[in-house]
Amino acid sequence: MATDTPAQNFRLLRKFIPSSLQPYLRGLRKRLQTSERPTQEPFRTVFPYTQVHRFRQENLLRIAREIDDRAIPGAIVECGVLDGGTAAIMAFGTKRSDRPLHLFDSWEGLPAATEKDGDAEMWAGDVVGSPRRVAAVLRALQISFSRVNFHKGWLTRHFQKQISTR
Ligand SMILES: C[S@@+](CC[C@H](N)C(=O)[O-])C[C@H]1O[C@@H](n2cnc3c(N)ncnc32)[C@H](O)[C@@H]1O
Repeated sequence: MATDTPAQNFRLLRKFIPSSLQPYLRGLRKRLQTSERPTQEPFRTVFPYTQVHRFRQENLLRIAREIDDRAIPGAIVECGVLDGGTAAIMAFGTKRSDRPLHLFDSWEGLPAATEKDGDAEMWAGDVVGSPRRVAAVLRALQISFSRVNFHKGWLTRHFQKQISTR
């Protein structure tokens, strides 16, 4: 059984915040952290749109660039997009090949916990992202929308179907 469920800040308050507001409040909170905002692109632009640590962002960019440098064929697939920060980094790093991006998310937060997830049920329906914010960060980094495919819904349902790539 999982024992490492992250603690939930403002647990009581969260119940009163409409889930549609979550992405905007999260973005606002990050925009207020001006002293932490990186100066280098694409990290500067994605800063309000990601929860992922800077080290991991740098690693993703390095891998994405290497995929293009080595002309490795295929599409970019992200499962768990939220507001699009890490998707935008991968798209930015593969601008040269202009390869397709397949973005999977419920955009309704985390699914119900199972018995394997320990006490994670408090997170069900939390961590709600926004496809509009995904589009905004991709636009800000001048990613061509002809590359982008949104797949909204639960991963368990999606992966029963085959993904068609261009
Ligand atoms: C930690 S966030 C992703 C972080 C994001 N990549 C970033 O740059 O900040 C996790 C996301 O995965 C999605 N998610 C988790 N489990 C899912 C599932 N089974 N089906 C669909 N979406 C899921 C949630 O809705 C949430 O948007």
